[in-house]
Amino acid sequence: MKRSDFPPDFTWGTATSAYQIEGAVREDGRGLSIWDTFSHTPGKTQGGETGDLACDHYHRYREDIALMKELGVNAYRFSVAWPRILPKGRGAPNPKGLDFYGRLVDTLLAQGITPWLTLYHWDLPQALEDQGGWPARETAYAFAEYADLLSRHLGDRVRHWITLNEPWCSAHLGYLAGVHAPGKQDLGLAVRASHHLLLAHGLAVPLIRRNAPGAQVGITLNLAPGHPASPDPADVAAARRFDGFQNRWYLDPLFGFGYPLDLLELYGETPPPVQGGDLEAIAVPTDFLGINYYTRAVVRNSTLGPYRFQSVAVGEERTAMDWEIYPEGLQELLLRVSREYRPKAIYITENGAAYSDVVSVDGEVHDPARTRYLERHFAQSLLALQEGVPLKGYFVWSLLDNFEWAEGYSKRFGLVYVDFATQARRLKASGRWFQGFLREAVARP
Ligand code: FCB
Repeated sequence: MKRSDFPPDFTWGTATSAYQIEGAVREDGRGLSIWDTFSHTPGKTQGGETGDLACDHYHRYREDIALMKELGVNAYRFSVAWPRILPKGRGAPNPKGLDFYGRLVDTLLAQGITPWLTLYHWDLPQALEDQGGWPARETAYAFAEYADLLSRHLGDRVRHWITLNEPWCSAHLGYLAGVHAPGKQDLGLAVRASHHLLLAHGLAVPLIRRNAPGAQVGITLNLAPGHPASPDPADVAAARRFDGFQNRWYLDPLFGFGYPLDLLELYGETPPPVQGGDLEAIAVPTDFLGINYYTRAVVRNSTLGPYRFQSVAVGEERTAMDWEIYPEGLQELLLRVSREYRPKAIYITENGAAYSDVVSVDGEVHDPARTRYLERHFAQSLLALQEGVPLKGYFVWSLLDNFEWAEGYSKRFGLVYVDFATQARRLKASGRWFQGFLREAVARP
């Protein structure tokens, strides 16, 4: 498999997000986000770690862009910290926040790297959470104002916009499982949050289009095939519930099919607070669908929780996240999504793996498992392309080792190793492999 097996205009990038890399949380007028509050709450993250310093990217972005240049990527997916732009979530913008992203974008463009901007990668301004957060409808309107402001500011230079990253995580992990900020555990709140996230997307798309004519606008979902643990009809039904909860709840309304009836039935007493016009707004046409793919789920029927399924650990090969390595799932997902929903284009906006990387005595980070993981997933996406899936690009998660949310710094996903004590960066062997793949200088077996 070579780069030239993919179309010549294929996008090859790396991805990051603001809170995971920027640090500088109290600088230049940035307001607090729910992740500042959550990570500073005892017991919420591994070892009490926070994004206070992270990769110090706020100060080192030039060095990090130079690393991307060295890798040879032609695109970079990053997110904007909403509380840097609007410290209280709404109201007067913070010029220094706008300025930072302006400089970031200009530096990328000067290096020939296309900026892919995600508006929301989980760092809701704390002030908005204090007013009800995503379960409150007003938050969707606040997001639309923020999208309007930022696209007016950067719409001349940024041609690729992603409204939300993984609304499933914001809603489910944040308001039901409670393992992500803001750490609530209430099904009703989670369902309301999911609807207002989708509404926020729907309201933002036309504003971005108006402010950045001709730009490509889409959303990123974390999708996963759900397989039954056995042919038992009860397990098959459990896999169907998983699929509804993880995939269809977002895909169906975004592509104009409304909320899936089986899930609406399951939510019973706590339906999404849909108002007139919401479903039309959510189904606004987009230019692409972003998919983040890491693993599949194998589930069996259970009596636990609202969704009554339980994940079963299968497969010998797992990453440091304890996620099964299942590259075939990527092809399966791409074929299914393009067949059932017909998005105009698909981008893999995240794919990658965590391993317990160490710097060896020879000064190198030897991570053959990550290289293998990427190779196998690239190969699966190539098969999907050959089947006619309109796949246009691929972003590796992540450029840098970074703050992996509740896991703190313990899980390293980078192509570049970060020594968090000194902030020194060094390309891992997988990064060199990717560089070779992009340059086609390295022959692979
Ligand atoms: C995704 C997130 C990203 C990162 C990877 C490992 O769900 O979008 O920020 O945490 O998982």
